[in-house]
Amino acid sequence: MKAPWDRQGIDKLIGTMTLKEKVGQLTMLSGELVQTGPTSAPVTSAAIQNGEVGSLLNLVGPERIRDAQRHAVEGSRLGIPLFFSLDVLYGLRTMFPIPLGESSAFDPALWEATARVAAEECAVEGIDLTFAPMIDIARDPRWGRTLEGPGEDPLVGQRVARAKVRGYQMADLAGPTAIAATAKHFAGYGAVLAGREYASVDMSERLLHEVYLPPFQAAVEAGVACLMPAFIDLNGTPMSIHVPLLRRLVRERWGFDGVIVSDWSSIAELLLHGVAGKPEAAALALNASVDIDMMGKGAYVDGIPEALDRGLVTMATVDEAVRRVLLLKLRLGLFDDPYRRCGSPEAVAAVAAQPARRALAREAARKSIVLLTNTEGMLPLGKSLRSLAVIGPFGQIVGGNSEPDATQRVAELVDRCKEAFPEAAIAVAAGSEVELPIAGGLEAARQAAQPSDVIVLCLGERVDMAGEASSRAHPGIPQAQEELARAILDTGKPVVVLLFSGRPLILPDWLVAGAKAILAVWHPGSEGAGAIADVLSGAHNPSGRLSMSWPADIGQIPIFFAERPTGRPRLENEHFSSKYLDIPNDPRFAFGHGLSYTGFLLTNPRATKWTLAPGEATEILIDVRNTGTMAGEHTLFQFIHDVASSITRPSLELVDFTKLALAPGEMKTVRFPLSTDQLRFLGPDLEPVLEPGAFQVFVGPGADPAQLQMLELKVSPAAGVA
Ligand code: GLC
Repeated sequence: MKAPWDRQGIDKLIGTMTLKEKVGQLTMLSGELVQTGPTSAPVTSAAIQNGEVGSLLNLVGPERIRDAQRHAVEGSRLGIPLFFSLDVLYGLRTMFPIPLGESSAFDPALWEATARVAAEECAVEGIDLTFAPMIDIARDPRWGRTLEGPGEDPLVGQRVARAKVRGYQMADLAGPTAIAATAKHFAGYGAVLAGREYASVDMSERLLHEVYLPPFQAAVEAGVACLMPAFIDLNGTPMSIHVPLLRRLVRERWGFDGVIVSDWSSIAELLLHGVAGKPEAAALALNASVDIDMMGKGAYVDGIPEALDRGLVTMATVDEAVRRVLLLKLRLGLFDDPYRRCGSPEAVAAVAAQPARRALAREAARKSIVLLTNTEGMLPLGKSLRSLAVIGPFGQIVGGNSEPDATQRVAELVDRCKEAFPEAAIAVAAGSEVELPIAGGLEAARQAAQPSDVIVLCLGERVDMAGEASSRAHPGIPQAQEELARAILDTGKPVVVLLFSGRPLILPDWLVAGAKAILAVWHPGSEGAGAIADVLSGAHNPSGRLSMSWPADIGQIPIFFAERPTGRPRLENEHFSSKYLDIPNDPRFAFGHGLSYTGFLLTNPRATKWTLAPGEATEILIDVRNTGTMAGEHTLFQFIHDVASSITRPSLELVDFTKLALAPGEMKTVRFPLSTDQLRFLGPDLEPVLEPGAFQVFVGPGADPAQLQMLELKVSPAAGVA
């Protein structure tokens, strides 16, 4: 086959294709070496040679991929290359913190850098496309996929989206280490009913456009190559056939001309959503401009021919989808060199061996760790520590997300602690399993604790207790671990708790009160154990901040800072005010919460311009001083509140964040540019409007109102408008 070098070449190629070959290009099948959906039979070389498949997922290993590609390029009639895809959300060989953890770094440069390293590792192992970034906003910790996302706020989601698309794709998809990114799962998936995975979603158009769509628009503006609709039905329409959002908004209004790939069998699953049959499902999805049917049990293969016969879809629509898939392969350089990403074993080894990747993994894990509490300056632990007990089922919850065996993980954490505290005798005891008690475990834990000056108590979830298909109705510490924690706290020894989780955890009051310090370490990746030791010893001053509110009680869910005001705000002595009778309104830890080993003092908030005409801008300045004895990084957030508006606006809306490093005693002035564009909101018709009047501007270390400094700006009416 003469490789098509441009759109004309693609159109010419399409003109030579049979319907079966066209539908083949719209079909993605699994190599089944990684399981990310219901088990199925792996793709066969015969299917590839017969042109029945245009792309694969979950086939791992450059030699296997080279072999599969050879069946396509040399064994099929037209020799059209496959592309190969995989879920690489936080690393392939070098594992970084889970995305919810990494978002706690509030560091777009870091987010881009880790995506870049992941892309380099993919691009030498035959992977052309990753199903990342996952940019579903989430405000319900019961939902397991909070693990994969950027937290609760759309501005953070937008910045994660841009950074990750840049990191994976670079400027040219045909570049030697570039791979295609996929913005997923479009849209509103994080708001599933009762936090239950795959359940339906109901939300207002306003909430959808203000919170759940912006990260996807940012990804499209950043040039993301692919987009994946979510499994869910949104307000009664399954996302896979949502013409108003997929075709009208994403394709026509946002101008997205990339590939839309369904989620695993989500087109076939339309029948379970209530769509009549395969031809109807295929036609509805294709007419909504879903190009590829992933593992669809023949939804497109069987459905499209009949849909064409019945006039449910046109050949022009089929060709439009085929064109986008072939153009993606052209952009990926696969027509030029189908084996371009299938590196030699030496090349693979060379990439993985680069020390910079492990250093980045350690930096990412350090920056993701959030110091939640630190009573009486318990942390950092002194270098001269004499004895330490590391207790908890951490063999099952520590270390890389790439599943080394438990004994390796135990060794990692203990070894890193030995390096950090060379004089300390270190006792180790599991005490319990993650979800079950161990016979004699509590006693063994007490024995380990007895001679120790400090206890590091590792609690939380296994990585497989969050993520897809892993909603938890009670997202807390499993009972067996609570019993272990009580036993260890009862020893009266100072206890530092490490929380390993893929989501915010609901913590019992007695644990928060009894622990001397608590760290959220998430699932910290390949170098997580070292990063934890770095924070415990003070080699790294923790700077992570929560990108998702941690509820004090499950009854508060959904909980997030950007709530709209109520006409009856909570008042201590007013019965008729917005509150619960039995639990607090406030989260356990607010968005942006995160302590440091040093202190930061904010003073002198000011603006360069206090009254703005539409189209003008100001700068909000504030002085920040490191008042402690350790260097540290501080993240500052800028929120606004539109005091009087035609649509009620959230009490706090995040419009910017920044991070700065300060030496002990050092002071810097932080400057937040603020334009009237950032003061706009979606009016009654969901179109952006700017209304004159007063705007409160808040700056501080998080969404806790007690820590915010406020000033007030005015937007004057547009010239000539009353
Ligand atoms: C899964 C997930 C999706 C993933 C896809 C391929 O079901 O929902 O995030 O990219 O299948 O593995």
